[in-house]
Amino acid sequence: MTGFGGADFTDFGEFAEDGFDGGFDGGFDDEETLNPVREPGERDLETTLRPKDLREFVGQPKVREQLELVLHGAMRRGAPPDHVLLSGPPGLGKTSLAMIIAAELGASLRITSGPALERAGDLAAMLSNLVEGDVLFIDEIHRMARPAEEMLYLAMEDFRVDVVVGKGPGATSIPLDIAPFTLVGATTRSGALTGPLRDRFGFTGHMEFYTPEELDLIVRRSAVILGVDLREEGAVEIAGRSRGTPRIANRLLRRVRDFAEVRADGAVTLEVARAALAVYDVDELGLDRLDRAVLGALVRSFGGGPVGVSTLAVAVGEEPTTVEEVCEPYLVRAGMLARTPRGRVATALAWQHLGLEPPDHAPGLLEG
Ligand SMILES: Nc1ncnc2c1ncn2[C@@H]1O[C@H](COP(=O)(O)OP(=O)(O)OP(=O)(O)O)[C@@H](O)[C@H]1O
Ligand SMILES: [Mg+2]
Repeated sequence: MTGFGGADFTDFGEFAEDGFDGGFDGGFDDEETLNPVREPGERDLETTLRPKDLREFVGQPKVREQLELVLHGAMRRGAPPDHVLLSGPPGLGKTSLAMIIAAELGASLRITSGPALERAGDLAAMLSNLVEGDVLFIDEIHRMARPAEEMLYLAMEDFRVDVVVGKGPGATSIPLDIAPFTLVGATTRSGALTGPLRDRFGFTGHMEFYTPEELDLIVRRSAVILGVDLREEGAVEIAGRSRGTPRIANRLLRRVRDFAEVRADGAVTLEVARAALAVYDVDELGLDRLDRAVLGALVRSFGGGPVGVSTLAVAVGEEPTTVEEVCEPYLVRAGMLARTPRGRVATALAWQHLGLEPPDHAPGLLEG
């Protein structure tokens, strides 16, 4: 079922749309240990493991420093800070940071998501209930409906909305003041945001994949919270295979703990971690089934590319946006896939990772 053999490219399950919690919630099989998208039952666990303030938040040194300045500057002036946009692949800590922003400001957090704001009225209701200084978090903000988005422009800029009452020639627009607030938007796809919306954010934090060292700190912290007997080398092993993603690191920790409790004495040593990860079919680079399917299709069906992302998506039976937002960022970062003007290309490293001899035209590590 790994997709390695090239036979089973279509069985990835489907994304379930979950209006209120961002569209990227769940939908994958339980066995999708490596998928960066959150699984359905995972929310409570994530709440337990979420860092509570900026000091507990590991990694993202740039975003953290910039954000600290934005927040503390505003606090000194006693005004709500600029609106903040957080962009990056799933599972890197956008929601966690939004909560931390509210906590650092001592403000309350209101949470909604782009898909939940289907009509402008939904947003107007949300906005008019805000209290001065509140933080409004809109997850998957690029998926907001157009009329709601247009209403948001004015709200962000002037703390005002125009509510349209009635229809047709008799319709009137009633201006409504709203309390000064801070908007925190999160998106896995900043490219899909319209220009006017993007321009209204005073600060954009680009979330990067985490280094193995940062993930090591994260799993060790999680192990303490969950009461897992995690040994040093076990932690390093898990961190190295977590695909640069804290959500995956925490998930692998739980899978390895299961293994340690059932098949060993509960301690997560290097041997236990390795044996467990082999059972769960996690490869040395932490690539997941979809990652491997994409590379496999690129190399075996398209001779390494270049091939357009939609063609590639069809070959693996996925939506182009999923391939683009969930899968490609890590493959690019791992140096296995290059995005070129003519399409996606497999690098020499990708061929080697699949156990194949790279052709002469494959971009090598140094060029890529
Ligand atoms: N910097 C971090 N330090 C420690 N733990 C983290 C960090 N970032 C994320 N996590 C852990 O990873 C989990 C997922 O993070 P979060 O929900 O914030 O990601 P996200 O970027 O909002 O994902 P999505 O795009 O799917 O909404 C959190 O519950 C938390 O336990
Ligand atoms: Mg989130």
